[in-house]
Amino acid sequence: MSIIADDNDFLNTKPQEKKNPVVKTDANDNDRAFENSIRPKDFNSYIGQSNLLKHLKITIEASKKREKPLDHILFYGPPGLGKTTLAGVIGNEMGVPVKITSAPALERPRDIIGILMSLEENQILFIDEIHRLNKVAEEILYPAMEDFFLDMTTGKAQTVKTLRISLPKFTLIGATTKAGELSGPLRDRFGIVHRLEFYSPDELSKVIKRTAELLDIEIDEKSAYAIAKRSRGTPRIANRLIKRVSDYAIVKNDGKITEDIANKSLDILEIDEFGLDNTDRNLLRLIIEKYDGGPVGIETISAAIGEDSRTLEDVCEPYLLQCGLLQRTPRGRKVTPETYRHLGYKILNSNQQSLF
Ligand code: ADE
Repeated sequence: MSIIADDNDFLNTKPQEKKNPVVKTDANDNDRAFENSIRPKDFNSYIGQSNLLKHLKITIEASKKREKPLDHILFYGPPGLGKTTLAGVIGNEMGVPVKITSAPALERPRDIIGILMSLEENQILFIDEIHRLNKVAEEILYPAMEDFFLDMTTGKAQTVKTLRISLPKFTLIGATTKAGELSGPLRDRFGIVHRLEFYSPDELSKVIKRTAELLDIEIDEKSAYAIAKRSRGTPRIANRLIKRVSDYAIVKNDGKITEDIANKSLDILEIDEFGLDNTDRNLLRLIIEKYDGGPVGIETISAAIGEDSRTLEDVCEPYLLQCGLLQRTPRGRKVTPETYRHLGYKILNSNQQSLF
């Protein structure tokens, strides 16, 4: 049988080089390139997720003392919270290279076989969106994860032979926004499973100040906090907003970012004080105006506002749920009294009198 050369090689990095520990390209290449250039590379520069970091530090130290690769790790949680970044940090802290791919790039058996066979001893393989792995790829992964071998068949009918190939010991880090969609057998093969949490405004403020320093942008405490509050708990969004605010400051205030300049530029971007954008507000308004507050199914919402249901579920919903503006029920999505208040609606009682 022939093994196809690994075409993900450009994603490899040697952590010792202390350049970008990870490189990943997808739909939004500009944003990704920027993100990669400012990723923290070790525990010291990583902000937030303190419980998770505590746990990881112990696991890494134990693995080094035992001189064994780390257990396989599954990170789950909303997008933009640093799952890929953490894989790079772990690689650097372990002193091993990280190879990055995503489940949609592993469509054919030879994709996953090729990548497994190209690994070096103790290397980390990071698979993003791992819930999207197909059944065949999953079955190839099971023995690879458990006992570090591949079972391959060659020939046809009566001449079929099974070939067992050993692999170097490696650590798989899987990342998903949808832990519930992972098959049971795959989930069970991860020794360590962690949920990444939304960041507090204080943590995001630190992320913003760190990024500003790397970009040579001057920013004070209050302005950083103003941006942090509207970054919906997500470093990826905070890092994008600092650039937009800086552009605005260059045009309107000789490059000086003040709290007022930060707030004005975020108003222009139509990001409100909860960090909601137009898509979030359209979703909530639709439920209020057309469905009397809900419940209504996600597919109906998706068709009505013209936004992909996956984006709504993966990107919009987790934050709206977290800040109490949306609820999931067995019959669909519902808004809360807080949603009416936030969007400036009045809730009327049966006598048509405002309840607040
Ligand atoms: N940039 C993005 N995520 C970060 C984090 N958790 N810590 C520091 N900088 C970041």
